Amino acid sequence: MLVTLGQRRAERDLRGLLLDCHTKIRSFARRAVELSTRDDLPASEVREQCASCERYFTEALPLHVADEDESLRPRMGQCSTAAAAALATMSAQHEEHRALLSALLVALAAMRERGSDPETRATLAEVAPRLEREFEAHLAIEEAVIFPEIATALSPEQRADVVRELRARRAPT
Ligand SMILES: [Fe+2]
Ligand SMILES: [Fe+2]
Repeated sequence: MLVTLGQRRAERDLRGLLLDCHTKIRSFARRAVELSTRDDLPASEVREQCASCERYFTEALPLHVADEDESLRPRMGQCSTAAAAALATMSAQHEEHRALLSALLVALAAMRERGSDPETRATLAEVAPRLEREFEAHLAIEEAVIFPEIATALSPEQRADVVRELRARRAPT
């Protein structure tokens, strides 16, 4: 099979692109937790941080979920039994995260509008640490069980196709 330079780059890129998203998920989940514990941040920074977390979880996270559910999972038919089970768990958890994410967005919007006070911090503290823990467990399964099989379960052409779909999702409209 002839493997083009572009396909070879795509193989390297795909796992890297997915891991870049994980770095962002961890970073924004941590920010939300910090907003729930810090009482020393200037009001303008609280507003900006809340808005940027809201933007990330509303706009960017769903793209990563679609990358995994719509682009990656359907192409991993040749994976191991363990990875197949992990893929099913992954998609189920994407659904399970929805309620917690909605609660997080409500808490962030309240803090952005009213400022950081004991009440808005307490509301955020009820949801942000739990979401961070759930994300960590979720990302760890993907990284330990699913991503290592990308190189063997997908052909170079399939990997290149996935990378193209990832980029298309983020292309400016
Ligand atoms: Fe995921
Ligand atoms: Fe992921």
